[in-house]
Amino acid sequence: TFSPIEKEAIIGVADKVAGHEDAIGAEALERLFCCFPQTKTYFSHLDLSHGSKDLKRHGGNVMRAIGTAAHHLGDIDHALSTLSDLHAQKLRVDPGNFKMLTHCILVTVAIHFCEEFTPVAHAALDKFLCKVSSVLVSKYR
Ligand code: HEM
Repeated sequence: TFSPIEKEAIIGVADKVAGHEDAIGAEALERLFCCFPQTKTYFSHLDLSHGSKDLKRHGGNVMRAIGTAAHHLGDIDHALSTLSDLHAQKLRVDPGNFKMLTHCILVTVAIHFCEEFTPVAHAALDKFLCKVSSVLVSKYR
């Protein structure tokens, strides 16, 4: 569960990202593929070059899903249920990769919204992204 202070910080940053999901998401993915090249193997069917449409589209999808979760903090499991099925049953992404992506999302958000990214917001976002990851890997078996 999230405290009122955590909720405010998470929703505050999500509202800053709103409208810029493609750009923020594409940058987070670019950082992921640059820092952790092994993650590229899951996306061999996409064009991962800088500024590509695929990066923006997929990055936007990821950030919009995170925005949905931010607005359903009491029920993230339900809000991400379909996505959880997809990652666990179809994509079968190694769970270790989620830490790398959420790290890159955190760094990207920190750079773009540095005023909102207080230590309290940092800790709340880290906790929130861990929760999102745990939901997305919860249906593995
Ligand atoms: C697809 C979100 C983590 C690999 C997707 C989609 C979303 C999403 C919204 C599109 C689903 C659809 O088309 O219906 C997320 C979120 C994550 C996460 C919120 C964690 C914060 C990861 C990780 C990997 C990964 C860590 C692998 C390194 C994929 C792949 C697809 C996908 C391969 C299919 C892409 C395509 O073919 O267009 N994800 N994802 N995801 N995700 Fe994730």
